Amino acid sequence: MINKVKQTAEEKYEQLKAALEGTNDQFDADLLDTSAPGEPIPSGARHPVSIMLNKIIGIFERIGFTVAEEREVETDWYNFTAMNTPEDHPARDMQDTFYVRNAPNMLLRPHTSSVQSRVMTTQKPPIRIIAPGRVYRNETISARSHCQFHQVEGLYVDEGVSFADMKQTLLYFAREMYGRDTNIRLRPSYFPFTEPSAEMDVYMGTSDEKSYRLTKGTGWLEVLGCGMVDPKVLENCGINPKKYTGFAFGIGIERSALQNYDISDIRYLFENDVRLMRQFGSAI
Ligand code: DAH
Repeated sequence: MINKVKQTAEEKYEQLKAALEGTNDQFDADLLDTSAPGEPIPSGARHPVSIMLNKIIGIFERIGFTVAEEREVETDWYNFTAMNTPEDHPARDMQDTFYVRNAPNMLLRPHTSSVQSRVMTTQKPPIRIIAPGRVYRNETISARSHCQFHQVEGLYVDEGVSFADMKQTLLYFAREMYGRDTNIRLRPSYFPFTEPSAEMDVYMGTSDEKSYRLTKGTGWLEVLGCGMVDPKVLENCGINPKKYTGFAFGIGIERSALQNYDISDIRYLFENDVRLMRQFGSAI
């Protein structure tokens, strides 16, 4: 078989060689300088936000999470009601959330947590997803905040999922993301869709000027919100909370991108100036 392949290859080679050497006036040899250096092909660069997103996705894919993507224009139910956010909760305030004109039930999702209810109403446990995506909030645009940014949501629902599982998963994430010796701490917090809820900080230290500034002298940097999925949320989505438990988390991307790449103003990330993006190469 190998001989046959060799024979065919040789025939092909001879054919092509003959065609090139033959009097082929389709191209004029004088015009074609085969020794001239090639024209460089400009290579594209990834946006710093994409680099961060891809890195986070990679970290969670390695431990069995799959990517779930959902709509940015969402209904009130998936975004708030299903997620145990009561009618009078401040997060529903028109000041924060963009609603669609003439469609009071439609909004631009202010967080990726809406993907949780989308997934839980359509899939059965075990569920292990991460959901990267764009979110919108009615914020005054400044160097530190924008009306659009990105988050990665994580959700794990199965029988017997515990707070300890969450801690271990997040510690793994922090060490992959920030370095092998990274330490984390969980501070009690409040989110309507988790109980108990926490915020996770990673220890950056204060030894260099940048860490000192970023952590306001404490050494600790806040990176995500998390918690055990509130049984009410499971129930709203048709999952039996007596049988299943889960944890969830939400990571903001832009702050980390700014810190990581020493970019001083969030607005640069949305101006699509190639001079900015070229600086970060095309890593991953
Ligand atoms: N959705 C929250 C926010 O935008 C972040 C968050 C907190 C997501 C706790 C979660 C969670 O999944 O469990 O601030």
